[in-house]
Amino acid sequence: MNTRRLKLAAIGCGSRTFIYFELAAKQPELYEIVAAADHTPARRAKARALSQNPNFQEFYDDRAILAESKLADVMIIATQDAHHFAHASAALRKGYDLLLEKPISTNLIDVLALEQLARELGRRVLVCHVLRYTPFYRSVKAVVASGVLGDIVSFEATEGVEPWHQGHSFVRGHWAVVEKATPMIIAKSCHDLDIFSWLVGSPCLALSSFGSIMHFNAAHAPAGAPARCTDGCPLSGQCLYDAHRYLTDKKPWLEIIYDHAKTATDAKIIDWLRMSPWGRCVYHCDNTAVDHQTVAMNFASGVTGSFTMTAFSEGRDLALFGTKGRLLAGERVKRTAGCDLVVEDFRTGKLERITVDHEIDGWHGGGDAGLVRMLHAEMSKSNAAEMESSLERSVESHLMGFAAEEARLTGTTVVLADFRQRHGD
Ligand SMILES: NC(=O)c1ccc[n+]([C@@H]2O[C@H](COP(=O)([O-])OP(=O)(O)OC[C@H]3O[C@@H](n4cnc5c(N)ncnc54)[C@H](O)[C@@H]3O)[C@@H](O)[C@H]2O)c1
Repeated sequence: MNTRRLKLAAIGCGSRTFIYFELAAKQPELYEIVAAADHTPARRAKARALSQNPNFQEFYDDRAILAESKLADVMIIATQDAHHFAHASAALRKGYDLLLEKPISTNLIDVLALEQLARELGRRVLVCHVLRYTPFYRSVKAVVASGVLGDIVSFEATEGVEPWHQGHSFVRGHWAVVEKATPMIIAKSCHDLDIFSWLVGSPCLALSSFGSIMHFNAAHAPAGAPARCTDGCPLSGQCLYDAHRYLTDKKPWLEIIYDHAKTATDAKIIDWLRMSPWGRCVYHCDNTAVDHQTVAMNFASGVTGSFTMTAFSEGRDLALFGTKGRLLAGERVKRTAGCDLVVEDFRTGKLERITVDHEIDGWHGGGDAGLVRMLHAEMSKSNAAEMESSLERSVESHLMGFAAEEARLTGTTVVLADFRQRHGD
């Protein structure tokens, strides 16, 4: 194995870069954090502190860092969704390999163009599909590979976004207005779409989809609810989505969006909420992201599957149905059976209960930690296409996501090969 330290730099110093820097800094034998760019001085300062590198270089923005000669092996692209394509293309042209935050881009034409550019330049792009690196999905994959389930015939999966998270990110937050960000099925669930073809070992051929905003609209506003929680709402203190919770039990969510969350007084935070998108009543926002969506999929091997994303559940659930047995896994299994996976053998009727060795580092069930641990090895593979979450593999799940949005909006079944061709490939 190549043990030369991998030099990391980043464009965009938000929550994602901070997680990656913190995890990389704990593995100095593998990584050296050398530079970062962000408009906000406080964020650059935090990146510098996390780097633990006295020679760390900071820059105002993407242009400034890319105007320098190449500073690192890998550029982390972790600006907001709408900027990924421009920043990723420029960094590829400068000679960087990339750790690219999902989504690859907010539209399919750019996703395919980036794939083409990386291929032409011979660069490696690892997309942050962190679920592939979680101990949970690695265990599910190992059960499938062991053959105990026989041939997988169908599956059901659910991603519960959780009501507060939906309100924070997809009603008030960065991904609420699809036209400015990405369809919710990609913004939240490209991870899940990515996992399905990986688990069943076959590409998706066609899909259909339904979904809408059922709850987060004016029709569900409590009587007398003003535009902002801070404007004297009659349900203050009782509403699940009361923005005052950012001062108490939801403080960790405030830390993601407000740089002074840890030091500001309550009065200062309330003042901030009076102006910020996160102080708005969730029933009086400009959100266009759905709060529930279901996708039905047909895979090349004949496997069929359904996936439901809903605001009104929490965590992921998965059921795989094979010719020899079935696997039930995820949140509901954890709550009812006290383990992560249950494997049932149809012939013997035996149940095997599996508990996964979860990691506590970072969010996403250890996926962030797994991704950073694997980044060095992934970037050292002689064949870039073999990277677990290579750009080529990730393009497939983005194709599924954009196709699911078209299927939802048009009420049609979308054949992925046709869809790809229509978008210029
Ligand atoms: N992989 C995952 O599981 C996962 C989870 C959450 C978010 N994301 C994705 O990660 C990305 C980043 O999310 P975040 O929450 O860290 O965002 P964020 O908004 O907290 O951070 C983005 C940063 O980019 C900076 N920025 C904007 N324009 C810039 C420029 N031209 N040059 C340099 N910096 C610039 C902003 O100042 C900001 O600090 C998003 O695209 C999001 O969808 C991925």
